[in-house]
Amino acid sequence: MKTLIEFINEKQHDFPFATGELTRLLHDIGIAAKIVHREINMAGLTENMGYQGGDNVQGERQKKLDVFANQHFIRALQMGSQVCAIASEENEKMVVFDNPNSKIGKYVVAMDPLDGSSNIEVNIPVGTIFSIYRRKTNQGDPVSDKDLLQPGKEIVAAGYILYGSSTMLVYSTGNGVNGFTYDNSVGLFLLSHPDVKIPAKGNIYSINEANYIYFPEGIKKYIKYCQVDDPSTDRPYKSRYVGSLVSDFHRNMVVGGIYMYPGNLKNPVGKLRLLYECQPIAFLAKQAGGKATDGFHDILNIVPQSIHQRSSFIVGSEEMVTKVEDYMEEYSQDFRETLEHEGVIAL
Ligand code: AHG
Ligand code: MN
Ligand code: MN
Repeated sequence: MKTLIEFINEKQHDFPFATGELTRLLHDIGIAAKIVHREINMAGLTENMGYQGGDNVQGERQKKLDVFANQHFIRALQMGSQVCAIASEENEKMVVFDNPNSKIGKYVVAMDPLDGSSNIEVNIPVGTIFSIYRRKTNQGDPVSDKDLLQPGKEIVAAGYILYGSSTMLVYSTGNGVNGFTYDNSVGLFLLSHPDVKIPAKGNIYSINEANYIYFPEGIKKYIKYCQVDDPSTDRPYKSRYVGSLVSDFHRNMVVGGIYMYPGNLKNPVGKLRLLYECQPIAFLAKQAGGKATDGFHDILNIVPQSIHQRSSFIVGSEEMVTKVEDYMEEYSQDFRETLEHEGVIAL
């Protein structure tokens, strides 16, 4: 079977002017993924579960494994000299590498080092999400916020690692989506899911329905649509919600479905972070033939105003996401105004 490294190297030849820097960067992510995989696999046996004892910038209590994953991905990217700065969920400000090699790095990375980390104690899948952009400033100049505050349509490559019943690395460089399963016995990621395509529609919807009373009217109407008895359209759909975006998205991408974390009355722009959760997953969805929206705007067109900005997020099978947009258009014009009032700027 083809290994991740063989595959990445082969893909480099698709770009005639490629210098190998992106290839090296992706290799480094693969190495950090193995280290984090090992640590997650041992959770429960080692002293790595529970809280670290601090909060991140969002006021969320950091888990030991949040911090471990953050350190290891940062370290792996710092060792190479392709990346000059990283925005991470676990760091208030972007992390700028000031060693001479990294300073001239061509790329910046945004990442959620451990997604769904509240699931760790109960042995439920978690993930890592990353996206890679070409910096805006000239190589060697000081890094600025504008290097990272780029809309999703500028992504050069994005992916996730799913530490599930098996560990997978799924990524795209803008030429389709490919998935690799980790073979523990040989320590290699092997191509198991070539050219993944999301079915145009599915029969799974994933949402934290406990927030129902706070949802915009369009989302409420869509949930009711999912629950109608109509065997000709496979309804009622199945409700499946892991509570870790990577797991929920991965399942829906493979078998067809929709994931929603919409803005709501309590949190108008929802919970998920635009730069390192919504944009990379939206990029992968699009590359696999799916779609992502905040209800009114294509996620890939929204211009981040700050690195920890949140966004309403609906992603998955193309026809299902379009239906949600239709419901939002019909029943939730007030929510469009709320988004604009919250400072959402789309191209
Ligand atoms: P993180 O662990 O990185 O903070 O992300 C958790 C996110 C996402 O993965 C998940 O879908 C969502 O939060 C779950 O939130 P609720 O518990 O509010 O449903
Ligand atoms: Mn997350
Ligand atoms: Mn996280």
